[in-house]
Amino acid sequence: MQIPCTTREKELFDRVALAARQLGVPCYLIGGFVRDKLLNRNTKDMDIVCVGDGIALAHKVAALLDPSPKVNFFKTYGTAQIRHKDLEIEFVGARKESYRQHSRNPEVEPGSLEDDQLRRDFTINALAISLNEADFGTLLDPFNGRQDMADKLIRTPLNPVQTFSDDPLRMMRAIRFASQLHFTIVPETLQAIRENADRIKIITQERITDELNKIMLSSKPSIGLDLLYQTGLLKIIFPQMVDLAGVEMQEGKGHKDNFYHTLQVIDNISRNTKDLWLRWAALLHDIGKPATKRFEEGHGWTFHGHDAVGGKMVPRIFARLKLPQHDKMKFVRKLVELHLRPISLTKENITDSAIRRLLFDAGDDLEALMLLCDADITSKNKAKVKRYLENFEMVRQRLKEVEESDRIRNWQPPITGEMIMEIFALKPGRMVGDLKSAIREAILDGEIPNSYEAAYQYMLQKAKELDLTPVK
Ligand code: CTP
Repeated sequence: MQIPCTTREKELFDRVALAARQLGVPCYLIGGFVRDKLLNRNTKDMDIVCVGDGIALAHKVAALLDPSPKVNFFKTYGTAQIRHKDLEIEFVGARKESYRQHSRNPEVEPGSLEDDQLRRDFTINALAISLNEADFGTLLDPFNGRQDMADKLIRTPLNPVQTFSDDPLRMMRAIRFASQLHFTIVPETLQAIRENADRIKIITQERITDELNKIMLSSKPSIGLDLLYQTGLLKIIFPQMVDLAGVEMQEGKGHKDNFYHTLQVIDNISRNTKDLWLRWAALLHDIGKPATKRFEEGHGWTFHGHDAVGGKMVPRIFARLKLPQHDKMKFVRKLVELHLRPISLTKENITDSAIRRLLFDAGDDLEALMLLCDADITSKNKAKVKRYLENFEMVRQRLKEVEESDRIRNWQPPITGEMIMEIFALKPGRMVGDLKSAIREAILDGEIPNSYEAAYQYMLQKAKELDLTPVK
């Protein structure tokens, strides 16, 4: 075997080889599995291509396995899948057409192994390993994929214009692989992406977002995001991000390029978290800046309120990108809205009440918020960064102290809206909300202690001002 494999995988290959021999169809391991094995990456998805009927081969293999797995197959696409222990195995007959998932034109014309390899996306994804008796385990590499792998290059086996017109999603896949593997896209292929970027519009949003998320989850997402920007794809799939790019000058004063600042923030946070949504929060933290940019004479550039404006943009961006609409979106929105709070604390006297408010507003997401703020410190001025980080450490310390003494995180004020309605025989409405928030604010400000009795007395006092009398 010219790829490293486990005993379990080796046993499976022997079964597949036996089934293929019995059916008289040559078969090969191909695609991502071979690529990832050669790159020592973890992989559980195995693609097997045979010169013949892939569905029949899947059934034969399933019959030879103990226990015999269920075969899921799609007659129109000529593909079949089985699950064996922790391996997901897909079978397909070699074809002359391009490898499109869920192609809109699924009639496939059978072809040779080489036809099949030629119509795959990249040379590193077109490597095959023979599972046939005569040359079992041999690497079949007609397009020098092994060399491209050694040189860390992404290249299409065919003219890239052809490969991308077969399936424009491959433009995003090229960039995704560059980001995941830290490979370089060869100039001809990169140029073809630039020239054909517009064709991405025919691809469904789900498939585009899937690739975007894979870029976001790569160890250095800036590689992929910058390539998306440079090739013009980002402008089409996510124009608000592109609005962050560029530096404007007035009275000899410029501001930082918020696109490249954002890329640095996402790389910073990616060193500390694998959480996709926290990475999304980093990507969107300054998204409100273009809309709030002003030049104030004698002062310079400002982006007042970009946190709130950015937060408001999150639901629409998530909807357009078909990202989850509920908890994940709310988490990202909350972080975008709060991202300046810990930093602003470092600039003023840190009062207990400011700390209590932050604990209350961030709740369970405080650690995530602190990671985001830490990543947001990207100044090139070393002394400034040092000062920020020291102040920041102080905020962390104070947050810990106040939380230990007040337990404000996930805290609920001692008097609820229901209680207020009952005490004053009120229907739900503004009055109830006003009273409730007055009590909450007074506790957060340290005006009254965090106890039921104090809150009750305070409520009576406030109610009096509103001409309300308790009925019980
Ligand atoms: N493929 C292709 N064009 C596509 C999608 C897939 O040519 N648009 C081919 C490639 O040979 C690829 C194989 O089909 O290696 C399997 O595709 P898939 O499982 O989607 O991707 P992988 O390359 O395995 O990568 P990953 O699992 O990381 O998505």
